[in-house]
Amino acid sequence: MPKLRTLDELDVRGKRVLLRADLNVPVKDGVVTDATRVERLAPTIEALINKGAKVVVMSHFGRPQGKKDPAFSLRPLVAPLSRAIGGREVVFADDCIGAEAKRAIAMLRPGQVALLENLRFHAGEEANAPEFARALAELGDIYVDDAFSAAHRAHASIDALARLLPNAAGKLMQAELAALAAVLETPRRPLLALIGGAKVSTKLDLLRFLIGKVDILVLGGAMANTFLFAAACEVGRSLCERDMAASALQTLRLARERNCRVVLPEDVVVAAAPEPGAAAQTVAVGSVPSDMMILDIGPRTITRITGLLDGARTIVWNGPLGAFETPPFDRATVAVAKQVGELTRAGRLLSVAGGGDTVAALAAAGVTDEVSYVSTAGGAFLEWLEGRELPGVAALTQAR
Ligand code: 3PG
Repeated sequence: MPKLRTLDELDVRGKRVLLRADLNVPVKDGVVTDATRVERLAPTIEALINKGAKVVVMSHFGRPQGKKDPAFSLRPLVAPLSRAIGGREVVFADDCIGAEAKRAIAMLRPGQVALLENLRFHAGEEANAPEFARALAELGDIYVDDAFSAAHRAHASIDALARLLPNAAGKLMQAELAALAAVLETPRRPLLALIGGAKVSTKLDLLRFLIGKVDILVLGGAMANTFLFAAACEVGRSLCERDMAASALQTLRLARERNCRVVLPEDVVVAAAPEPGAAAQTVAVGSVPSDMMILDIGPRTITRITGLLDGARTIVWNGPLGAFETPPFDRATVAVAKQVGELTRAGRLLSVAGGGDTVAALAAAGVTDEVSYVSTAGGAFLEWLEGRELPGVAALTQAR
């Protein structure tokens, strides 16, 4: 795990702290529909407030293409942010650089909080432009990065800015990195990876990296269909990347070389379409009717996976095992999630999960609070599982 400076090592009293957060949360009709990222940021803001800092929160929101667009304003985040920090006032600045931002920050007293408008209203943010980073740096004395979920973006507020001011990782950044290190660097074994989701093509690098790290790799979701197809099983009308068959076989070969056991579905749940309550049947792989789609893994495979989980000591999970948004095709994902929750609660398993769909699946199974660590990151979590260096983490280490 990279050694980063922490908040405890900084004297922030009376200083203006630029806090890079990830407030890129789902918003519908101006209302935040999932405030998890805001709530997980709160301990860092509170620590800074308690140390007497003037806290300046900055974030991107959506993809406004470098132009001011009211549809992507961070203003709707003021109230949720204030709620997350015990109702304290949050001052909003209509721009993230220049006179407007300076005026709002100049009014802050120690322990007060400001939120700046969307960083991506300026093209310099995504371009990692030095002059934009300098305009941001003018607003603060210290930089704290708590946006692990945006650490895969080499943008100005994440990369260039970190190199211009004394910096530290916030508490959420630290927690995310510690959870991933507990899985990938110092795991208790057996270590099992549960990887699902739609496409092999987007997860090849991840699978190859994990094969070198984990003892058991369980594959589910539509991406398992590609592996079944590569093994000459009929997959009917299932989602399947037929052009990835050779890559799938190569991945299986690599796993054999590295002594990583790969677990594929033995039986599957099929239906004509992923529709709620669709007439479903369970069949062995190899007996999928040509007019049907594989939409979940079957009970025999679930039993096999729960048995493997019983013997595992650490798991990392990304991607649902079936079309979990459409019952009854949520059964495998829910059953496995419940087992992960139970084993974790009993102290027998360390479990780390991440990725938007995975987090939604854990919530649907009602086990979010039972899993050891649920990442706030989507893309960044995946890139970390690919073994890549994330620009946001690198900037904090290199700039020291
Ligand atoms: C995320 O939600 O995963 C991060 O905020 C990154 O957002 P982006 O994909 O728009 O860069």
